[in-house]
Amino acid sequence: MYAARLSAAVASGFASGLRTMSSAVPVETFNPSGALRVVVTKSLPGDRWLKVLTAAGCRVDVCTDADTILSNDKIKKLMGDKCDGVIGQLTEDWGAELFGALKAAGGRAYSNYAVGYNNVVVPEATKVGIPVGNTPGVLTETTAELALALTFSAARRVVEGDSFMRGGKYKGWLPDLFVGNLLQNKVVGIVGAGRIGTAYARMMVEGHKCDLVYFDPYPNTFLEEYVRDYAKLLESRGERPVTVKRCETVEEVLREADVVSLHCNLDDNTRHLMNAERLGMMKRDAVLVNAARGPCIDEAALVAHLKANPSFRAGLDVFEDEPAMKPGLAECENAVIVPHIASATLWTRAGMATLAACNVAATLSGHPAWNKVDVLPFVDGPFDAIPKAAPSIVNAKELSLKMA
Ligand SMILES: NC(=O)c1ccc[n+]([C@@H]2O[C@H](COP(=O)([O-])OP(=O)(O)OC[C@H]3O[C@@H](n4cnc5c(N)ncnc54)[C@H](O)[C@@H]3O)[C@@H](O)[C@H]2O)c1
Repeated sequence: MYAARLSAAVASGFASGLRTMSSAVPVETFNPSGALRVVVTKSLPGDRWLKVLTAAGCRVDVCTDADTILSNDKIKKLMGDKCDGVIGQLTEDWGAELFGALKAAGGRAYSNYAVGYNNVVVPEATKVGIPVGNTPGVLTETTAELALALTFSAARRVVEGDSFMRGGKYKGWLPDLFVGNLLQNKVVGIVGAGRIGTAYARMMVEGHKCDLVYFDPYPNTFLEEYVRDYAKLLESRGERPVTVKRCETVEEVLREADVVSLHCNLDDNTRHLMNAERLGMMKRDAVLVNAARGPCIDEAALVAHLKANPSFRAGLDVFEDEPAMKPGLAECENAVIVPHIASATLWTRAGMATLAACNVAATLSGHPAWNKVDVLPFVDGPFDAIPKAAPSIVNAKELSLKMA
């Protein structure tokens, strides 16, 4: 019966199990006789992740509570007094309180269902000996593609045009109707040239022949060499070669770029990285894209900037006080706003689920940490060939975990 449910899950995208209650919080239970108990705070897509956990002998309790964001109280109730591992969400507050409760319930593993883990106070997990997993490697292209979609939607006023059409306002072609900016051969600026920043930069450079300027505390020699090699190819075909420059400061990027896309992680250095002063340094008709984390932008300052500069445009996937927006943002027609969907493709979301499950299952089984860039052996390919390792444990070093 459980196997039948799992195969039905393949068709629906999400699995369904036995509906019960865990201390007054509704859950769906899979493999009820499993010796280890793993709590998953939201339903996850695909079925591979469930197979990973059940093959490791876990009973899996998936929370089905109607609240979009679970309170700490509900998460503690879900964990109860026996919980070996948890897969949690980036909207949850994983600090001393929850790690203390997980430890008290016998917990030995936690994985965030996200690559970013600014919602996790990792030292608190380390203090109680709990490895913290995240899910890098399957979000990169998906997130970069959404950043690209925001870039062009903003530059070419796609959303304004869409609501114009739906509003029945289109009376015929006009030379000045929704005129936007051409980005071909322009300058793209990246703040944070890690995995996603690199993928986005390549899409803009290769696809649209943009020159690249970037700021990152660490040089990205792979990206620089890649762009230089691409420039040689263009030149050999008689086309304008693209250029690449690592800037000494964020300000230099902001002054030079026609499009700036944020791809840094959120920490004390990047909180409000884009403030009123820095917004004022950007070109008047530039595009600012944020598919990183909302607080990287002072959103109230951005609203003021968008209002004062109608030809400035923003494409936003994330918001400072998510799920709320700062007053006035919804009225800014020069902003394209989507609800934190940058990683929302089925392959990525199912892959994230598999990586999170492997983090928890491998940790509970005593397997080493993987921490290699290529995580596809976990996500694609035969189930039996999944490496016996936890794909990404952020505090592996601090906990002196064995590495695969
Ligand atoms: N919107 C979404 O759904 C979504 C999806 C995936 C990731 N993200 C966010 O994107 C971020 C980047 O993901 P990634 O996989 O590329 O991570 P990554 O660790 O590969 O890249 C982050 C880069 O930011 C750089 N950085 C750190 N501090 C900086 C600073 N002060 N200024 C400029 N750069 C700085 C780092 O050196 C690194 O190169 C994540 O931390 C996450 O918060 C959002």
